[in-house]
Amino acid sequence: MKQLICLGIESTAHTFGAAVVTGDGKILSNERYAYTTEKGGIVPADAAEKHSQVCGKIISDALAKAKKSIKDISLVSFSQSPGLGHCLRIGGMAARSIAAIYSKPIIGVNHCIAHLEIGRLATKAKDPVLLYASGANTQIIAYEGGKYRIFGETLDIGVGNFLDIFARHMGLGFPGGPKLYELSLKSKKFIHLPYTVKGMDVTFTGLLTNLQQKFDSGKFSKEDLAFSTQETAFAMLVEVAERAMAHTGKKELLLGGGVACNKRLQEMCRIMCKERGAELFVPPNDLLIDNAAMIAWQGILQFNSGERMKIEEAGVKPYLRTDGINVGWR
Ligand code: ATP
Ligand code: FE2
Repeated sequence: MKQLICLGIESTAHTFGAAVVTGDGKILSNERYAYTTEKGGIVPADAAEKHSQVCGKIISDALAKAKKSIKDISLVSFSQSPGLGHCLRIGGMAARSIAAIYSKPIIGVNHCIAHLEIGRLATKAKDPVLLYASGANTQIIAYEGGKYRIFGETLDIGVGNFLDIFARHMGLGFPGGPKLYELSLKSKKFIHLPYTVKGMDVTFTGLLTNLQQKFDSGKFSKEDLAFSTQETAFAMLVEVAERAMAHTGKKELLLGGGVACNKRLQEMCRIMCKERGAELFVPPNDLLIDNAAMIAWQGILQFNSGERMKIEEAGVKPYLRTDGINVGWR
């Protein structure tokens, strides 16, 4: 049988991406454009406009890098859920147009699940608990009873947005995560901060307000605040990840999302895993951040499991949750 070659399209929020991946899991290309703003957060309509501008070029770049033409593509997949409606619709529209014009099968996939599956492909983790720590999302996800269940999550903002808002408040610019990390290396002084774990869930806005007040008081250095921010927020994530591992009896922890690029978060997870005789799996940075390779791979998994989608059924679902998907490929 001819090998599947999938063109995947990602457009849930900041990133518009296109990638070409083969049925046996080779990533032939993984192109992206990331929308950023000088001040304030993402404006969905502006991001979507930018995505529309770059969409054609990113898709042709992905095909060119992979040395494929559109006729070599046997499947088109795209991020169908969850995300910002404005942004999702650009990727959905591109995928549906390509599928209709060139008569290709189309598969819409869940972005959060794609983070987990590309991690399994890249690291060979078998049945991990995923700590998905990105800008908008913070979830602890694991497979149980035919679905990817959410064992814990943020009750307000994602950990990445929290880091970015605080970094902006201190005048560090965007994205804030890497800037806070650099500053944190210059301090070992821990300032006590609010620590909010509620059962299996976490919250960040109380911590954010407290940090902003501390910074505004002028009594604390940026370095000490950056260090203490990471120690506190990441300890919360490690605690809920560990509890999910204890609850499910799983022996693997997998990282996903842009914040998981942070070396200190990786180190804290490694220590926790070592203490409980578990293994930590960390995909390379370009597969941790939002990317289209994971969308292509997820499309292949679903297509190979027999899933088919009509163009009329390929509408975007901005609010569909991780546990709303039936997992037919495991
Ligand atoms: P999603 O749509 O999945 O919520 P997103 O659009 O916010 O994702 P990601 O690329 O997954 O995008 O994550 C971006 C976040 O990752 C930003 O908040 C950024 O500050 C953070 N980040 C990136 N690199 C690092 C790093 N080295 N340390 C800490 N945070 C980082
Ligand atoms: Fe993501």
